[in-house]
Amino acid sequence: MFCNWLYTSYLLSAFVTFGLAATADEWRGRSIYQLLTDRFAVPSGTLESHCDTSKRTWCGGTWNGIRERLDYIQNAGFTAIWISPVNQNYEGPPTVYGDPYHGYWTADLTQLNSHFGTSDDLKALSADLHRRGMYLMVDVVINHVMSISTTPDYSGYLFKDESFYHPYCPIDYSDSTSEKICWMGDEMVPLPDVDTTNPTVIKRYGEWVQGFVKEYSIDGLRIDASDILTYSDSERHVQADFWPEFCGKAGVFCMGEVFGGAEVDPIANWQGPLDSVLNFPVYTALRDAYTIPGPGDVAGLDMSLLGNFLENHDLPRWHNLSVDPQSLHNAMAWNFMTEGIPIVYYGQEHGFTAPGDPDNREALWPSGYANSTTYQFITMLNQLRNTLIRTTDWLSTETVILTSSPHGVAFIKGTVISVLTNVGSPPSIGTHITTKSPYPVSMRLTNVVTCQQWVVGSGGSIDVDYSLGGVPVILLPSNQLEGSGLCGEQLDEVKRSGGQADPLGSSALSFRSRPYTLLLASWTAVGLGLGL
Ligand SMILES: *[C@@H]1O[C@H](CO)[C@@H](O)[C@H](O)[C@H]1NC(C)=O
Ligand SMILES: *[C@@H]1O[C@H](CO)[C@@H](O)[C@H](O)[C@H]1NC(C)=O
Repeated sequence: MFCNWLYTSYLLSAFVTFGLAATADEWRGRSIYQLLTDRFAVPSGTLESHCDTSKRTWCGGTWNGIRERLDYIQNAGFTAIWISPVNQNYEGPPTVYGDPYHGYWTADLTQLNSHFGTSDDLKALSADLHRRGMYLMVDVVINHVMSISTTPDYSGYLFKDESFYHPYCPIDYSDSTSEKICWMGDEMVPLPDVDTTNPTVIKRYGEWVQGFVKEYSIDGLRIDASDILTYSDSERHVQADFWPEFCGKAGVFCMGEVFGGAEVDPIANWQGPLDSVLNFPVYTALRDAYTIPGPGDVAGLDMSLLGNFLENHDLPRWHNLSVDPQSLHNAMAWNFMTEGIPIVYYGQEHGFTAPGDPDNREALWPSGYANSTTYQFITMLNQLRNTLIRTTDWLSTETVILTSSPHGVAFIKGTVISVLTNVGSPPSIGTHITTKSPYPVSMRLTNVVTCQQWVVGSGGSIDVDYSLGGVPVILLPSNQLEGSGLCGEQLDEVKRSGGQADPLGSSALSFRSRPYTLLLASWTAVGLGLGL
């Protein structure tokens, strides 16, 4: 939400993950559906409001609403959800930026936000997710609280004395000293900056998060504006020693939102105290055919803990940037078939087209939670990825680029070869991507997107022809399909681990005759962004 003010620097942000190794390991194989509680689903018996995003007020979604729609999320193969902040927010007359329907305007961290339900409702959501083998990730705001005055009465916050905050000053984003000690927001909605170098603050935050995670059985935290915290001068945006302590107390996986420099280097520096990984350079490369992120030294980063996304609550919807449905499908396939934890922002499965905040926080209910083409495509990607993770060492393998050209890229991770393109939906006669694979001539592969059979050519060659349009091609050795639930194969229930959604046997078939598409990134740039 703070991105109202930081929007211009969104291109520079990245996710960085940090936390306990064991829990990070448990998250590595997950797939996350990100939703805004107020906009995802209203509980049964409640009228589905006409939700005008420009009004920036509550539309009626609740934790019970989410509970009743968990099938919708799990049937698409997701194994975790990330929900908006749950803690009490500002209660008062609407501000010039509306009401805190998004949950990012923290008041008292020790209370829940009554607009979204009761403590029992949140516990029930957590329990329902766990019964399904799914994880709950909760967004938390630690850096600041919200006020409507630059001289707030602090008695309503967790930290009740002004000595726990930096004195008011507006942030000058061109000055890094100002960034660490000044307040985000503006004079109408200032965000008092908690002094996270204060030992009492560190201790109380630790106690708070420990109790909070335990009470609601939370599996992971997404930390808003985690880089804006005060920091020592050697780290660009973060007080490096705050997070290990905080996340250690939480005892769960922490995924941070980080605003780094345009360069990749400062983000790479996070590797010390944090299990850091960046994905915004990938987003940027995928988004913009003409933006090449600096190659940077990302070799030491743990790519498998990146949060890979194409949309979020601060960015324009993908289809606002690129209307061709295949642009989305090819880019999504990248996020699922390479290293990283795929994250899909609710509504992406329905091709929403809004530009940024507040328009990109649409109510989902007008979609009817329908089984759209993109919903089915995502289901197929999740099913394939879940199967590979369950039955092979795919997660620990490294993506290797086989070839890249102005039309696209071919890469292999584990046994799966993906060929992605930016040629777009219309037929592109004469356009090919030809690559060598490690497979022997005549070996049988299945393209799980269309369920068509492929045969490896001489010298291991694979040739993808775009005369029917730019469909993503994802090739799996046919003998590995068994038990996957893909392309007519039964899902092997015995091997099925908790948390894997019911794969939908033939969902991929419906893509067989669709025109395919895409007009996005310079794939070479993507490779560079990954340091490949
Ligand atoms: C993207 O958003 C802009 C700004 O609101 C709008 O004018 C444009 O029509 C949108 N583009 C698409 C493809 O929806
Ligand atoms: C969506 O539609 C596909 C194709 O008809 C079908 O295989 C799949 O089961 C459906 N998914 C859901 C959740 O209904």
